[in-house]
Amino acid sequence: MGVKDSPIGVFDSGIGGLTVMRALIKVLPYESIIYFGDTARVPYGTKSPATIVRFSLESVEFLLERDVKCVVVACNTSSAHALPVLRKYFKVPIIGVIQPGAMAAVKATKNKRVGIIGTQATVRSKAYEEAIKHLDPAVRVVSQSCPLFVPLAEEGMTRGKECESIIQHYCKSLKRSAIDTLILGCTHYPLLAATIQKILGRSIHLIDSGRQTAVDVQGLLMGMDMLCDKRSKPSYRFYVTDENEHFQTLSSRFLGRVVNKVELAKWNR
Ligand code: DGL
Repeated sequence: MGVKDSPIGVFDSGIGGLTVMRALIKVLPYESIIYFGDTARVPYGTKSPATIVRFSLESVEFLLERDVKCVVVACNTSSAHALPVLRKYFKVPIIGVIQPGAMAAVKATKNKRVGIIGTQATVRSKAYEEAIKHLDPAVRVVSQSCPLFVPLAEEGMTRGKECESIIQHYCKSLKRSAIDTLILGCTHYPLLAATIQKILGRSIHLIDSGRQTAVDVQGLLMGMDMLCDKRSKPSYRFYVTDENEHFQTLSSRFLGRVVNKVELAKWNR
């Protein structure tokens, strides 16, 4: 099997990265994908940088043992803290979600005020902020961690009064700061996009980092002549580090299709 036929590896702290895989499938419908969700150790968003880096290294190693041609770090928290280390350790192309999200936001903003929402660890890292400042130092950035958004999305509470009041609570400072663009800096947030839009108003441009990342992966594979040139049905494999009895329900929400076969990852360590 040549490198073009090798699968893309997608890594996330849990099931949230399925939103990024969904975007990848849409943009790259002929690429096979191996998904790895570290469900035994999720969430990463509350962990220290050193732990996030260690978990990320181990997870990417697992994918590389399965001969993936590139790795997409779907997890914002991991992208924010571990990407430089991962790129140093491994030779395959590794794409995170921060740079694509930051680039899309800089392109979208008219008034040069961008909001970022993410896990505590992502916000603390200032990775989005630095990426934006690097692209355009004139852009002002406001960040807000939203710890309750992950459980809301996983519980399927993406609309309704309770969901709206939680979003109101976290978005107060964003509303005050007159942003015109908001980065959904977490794998789970696209599921809350409609309600976030309702609370913040139609004029706010929402950026789904996962979607931008999928477009960047396409560009990268094309540039490296690594796109699959077969037009046959791709294969998708799913690995988790702990059984999750809700995977089927969650996969239908996050991936848009029900995944019936999930394999328990056996670490080669
Ligand atoms: N996947 C994580 C992210 O995108 C959210 C869940 C977690 O905290 O691990 O930041």
